[in-house]
Amino acid sequence: VLEGLDAFPINRRNEPIIAIGGGVVTDLVGFVASSWRRGVPHINVPTTLMGYVDAAIGVKTGINFQQHKNRLGSFSPPERVLLDHTFFQTLPHRHLLNGVGEILKLAIVKEPELFATLELYGSDCINAQFQDKTSWEILSTAVESMLAELVPNLFETELARVVDFGHTFSTALEMQDKLDLLHGEAVVIDMLLSSIIAWQRSLLSRNDLERIFSLVLTLRLPLSSEGLAPDLLMRSLMERQHHRNGVQRVPLPMGIGSYCFVANIGLEDVTQAVIFFKEWLQDNYYGNEIQNPTRIFQYRP
Ligand SMILES: NC(=O)c1ccc[n+]([C@@H]2O[C@H](COP(=O)([O-])OP(=O)(O)OC[C@H]3O[C@@H](n4cnc5c(N)ncnc54)[C@H](O)[C@@H]3O)[C@@H](O)[C@H]2O)c1
Ligand SMILES: [Zn+2]
Repeated sequence: VLEGLDAFPINRRNEPIIAIGGGVVTDLVGFVASSWRRGVPHINVPTTLMGYVDAAIGVKTGINFQQHKNRLGSFSPPERVLLDHTFFQTLPHRHLLNGVGEILKLAIVKEPELFATLELYGSDCINAQFQDKTSWEILSTAVESMLAELVPNLFETELARVVDFGHTFSTALEMQDKLDLLHGEAVVIDMLLSSIIAWQRSLLSRNDLERIFSLVLTLRLPLSSEGLAPDLLMRSLMERQHHRNGVQRVPLPMGIGSYCFVANIGLEDVTQAVIFFKEWLQDNYYGNEIQNPTRIFQYRP
């Protein structure tokens, strides 16, 4: 991209680079734009659900380096973000579900009505490639909810961020090539582990834990227990602790729509959560052939 820019020079102020693509493209272009000639404007046009509700609407860019997630990057506010959900018509199913993971994140810790909407209509919206009216409402709520968190804390002066829910253990999982997990897939697994820890600490009721697990099944989000080694997850937690300036600041759900931050998760919490998760998977999860998604965890309104 840098060579392209050199070969095709742009005016520094009034010819923004336009990034059209998924999170990889908007992250890469945003990073390049923030460093080329010490910073030129750029515009994001996300074409994936992940980009639409998350990657393209924030101001952060991230590039993996030395097997570390987002070790390079910049705060690089796009001049504009153009949102067009019709791009999702051609998005492969796996990438659609990948973005649903980030919507579910906001629903669990911040948006109880969005959570209820996903319980009722989430599967239909996925089947409709997020093109129908309910999907539009879900997308709008998700984007507004995300922006409400990002805008007052654009440059992360506050390091305790609820949008980091699901982004503690996922970092290491996502970087394991052999697991082949997309960002949103790793986030979903992290959210379930975090929810178990919250339940183990009596922060989350059994009923709310069941609603979360049940919704993941209803939406048929891909799950796997492969590679869930407690020591790997602890290393991910430690790395996040450095990122959050020496304090864990892990967001945990305290019910659907509320959260708290904890700073004392240890190996025992993680080990127990992994055991619970693996047992639950064995009992409830049928991979691509889920027979009765709510067999055990029936949602009781
Ligand atoms: N900067 C941030 O705040 C932030 C937030 C979340 C995720 N991310 C990053 O975003 C990346 C993931 O982004 P992603 O999930 O969009 O993946 P991606 O950019 O890899 O896109 C997924 C795939 O879909 C294809 N594609 C894109 N739009 C399409 C369309 N409309 N129809 C058909 N195919 C299409 C792409 O070519 C690619 O193969 C990760 O690297 C993650 O770390 C960044
Ligand atoms: Zn994310």
